[in-house]
Amino acid sequence: MIDHRIIEEIKFRNNIEDVISSYVTLKRAGSNMNGLCPFHSEKTPSFTVFTSSQNFYCFGCGAGGDVITFIMRAENLEYPDAVEFLAKRVGIEIPRDNEPSSRGPSRSRIIDMNRDAARFFHTQLYSEAGRAGLDYLKNSRQLSDSVIKRFGLGFAPDSFGAITDHLRSKGYTEEEMLSGFMCGKSKKNGKLYDYFRGRVMFPIIDVAGNVIAFGGRVMDDSVPKYLNSSDTPAFKKSRNLFALNYAKNNAEDHIILCEGYMDVIALHAAGFSSAVATLGTAITSEQARIISKYTKKVIISYDSDAAGQRAADKAIKLLSEAGCEVKVLKMNGAKDPDEYIKKFGAEKFKDLLSGSRGRFDFKVDSVLAVHDITLPDEKIKASDELCKIAAEAYSEAEREVYIGRIAEVLSLPRDSIRADVRRQVSRRTRERKKNETRNAYLSGTGYGDRVNPDFVKNVHAARAEETVLGLLLSFEEHRKFFADGGFELSEDDLATELGKRIFTVLKEGIDATGAFDLSIFGDRFSVEEMGRITKMRVSREQLTVNDRSVLLDAVRVLKSESAAKSGSDDVSYDDLLSLINKKKKEN
Ligand code: UTP
Ligand code: MN
Repeated sequence: MIDHRIIEEIKFRNNIEDVISSYVTLKRAGSNMNGLCPFHSEKTPSFTVFTSSQNFYCFGCGAGGDVITFIMRAENLEYPDAVEFLAKRVGIEIPRDNEPSSRGPSRSRIIDMNRDAARFFHTQLYSEAGRAGLDYLKNSRQLSDSVIKRFGLGFAPDSFGAITDHLRSKGYTEEEMLSGFMCGKSKKNGKLYDYFRGRVMFPIIDVAGNVIAFGGRVMDDSVPKYLNSSDTPAFKKSRNLFALNYAKNNAEDHIILCEGYMDVIALHAAGFSSAVATLGTAITSEQARIISKYTKKVIISYDSDAAGQRAADKAIKLLSEAGCEVKVLKMNGAKDPDEYIKKFGAEKFKDLLSGSRGRFDFKVDSVLAVHDITLPDEKIKASDELCKIAAEAYSEAEREVYIGRIAEVLSLPRDSIRADVRRQVSRRTRERKKNETRNAYLSGTGYGDRVNPDFVKNVHAARAEETVLGLLLSFEEHRKFFADGGFELSEDDLATELGKRIFTVLKEGIDATGAFDLSIFGDRFSVEEMGRITKMRVSREQLTVNDRSVLLDAVRVLKSESAAKSGSDDVSYDDLLSLINKKKKEN
């Protein structure tokens, strides 16, 4: 636990607008500021920073909280690490008690350990033990010493204890090595054994320059070809990209997205220094959003085989949703960019980049690859698929271009293609409306609420609960009124588990200081719950009537609902489910 006063000082010095400004372009809107939400994809800004309360809230996805919550989300950190991050930012030293913490190794310990491990691997590569590794990288993969150095490549000796012995000698504990994915523990004799053995090592470095994980490649045909760190306190696969630490500085025009580590290294070595790769998995929406922070144009350069093209399909979708213009490289005569550059040279690859296809042409190629359009049935299928894509276009003009292309490649009359596309457009509109109605209905009832699953059990009481908590969170006069015994309310009166927890902490805070700040919820609530707490506050502040009578009415509802709740409490929940099922059948 970090002293409350230190947290307040850290928050005071980390003005929320300054902090968030380095992640989001904020514009002033009245007394607040807004911008595009970094936590979900959107085209119009619903992300708001409240200057006076030093909170943020996204009206689109419900993310919200204080500056600490923001850093937890943006940097993917646990509470204490987010506090430390902010402390560092303003040069505050957090006094440490020397007791080992009970929540397992910290992110910063794992990062230190990774750095030591990366140094060890690199030294090994240039020692007698790493001869085979260096030979592989230089001769089989044709990498120069300077490229090896730039990417910090290394070698893990073919031994069960080299890394663990080294890290132990540097003072790292068994627990740290295990949770940092450096080694496993034998079930038979309880001994540690290195995970990475006889592999060339690729350190994965985040945008701040920390070594957060490793990938290791065998030098023969054994499997797995690459072994990657799994998620650790310092690393989440789905939120990081290989070589983004370099590519981010060269991303003004575009980022090149590849599948493999070796592709990225070959591209950088050939002068294409905006190449990145995912970490042994398909691209995630988080990665797409991270990429979109650094560039507006992405050129996908995946393997030329069918699997690579399918993966490209998914990447196109996620990257376009994140707001990027997407192009896809068309590579013939080589299976991946690494091989292509070796065979044909950097100049030819440059030509590929400038000749890369847009999203629609890529789709045309992949549809033509699977349908033999000399057969009538297949031609119809191909036409259907392409018309669907054309219908997704935002503008009439863009759609018209696509219609022309479809008519051309399938040699069909333009008018009939246009009619088909129109039909798809109206089908999409109908579906969107239906979904919107359904979502509005479901969110209005709280159904499908993962943050507060109890909400739906008694919507009436849960609404009253939000009112009471929202008013207490927002207004000092109501907190004072409560502290002075203006009304009585106990945990048992609250309608949901989440509400009870919020109330408990709120009450402690009011008792202790009277003054009050979101940080009292600190590490006792998840980032999603912090969003909900912020929502209660923000939605109250947007309403005009927030006086004592509103508060007392809601308290009355809570009390009478909790009094009535004796035994048969889930009735309304079941009623609601059957209502929803009935609605579903009607649609
Ligand atoms: P590829 O098999 O296409 O590798 O996998 P590559 O980059 O062309 O590798 P080289 O040229 O044979 O060295 C692409 C990426 O998929 C992940 C790795 O991140 C790799 O770079 N991968 C592949 C794994 O994580 N595990 C595997 O066993 C194989
Ligand atoms: Mn390859």
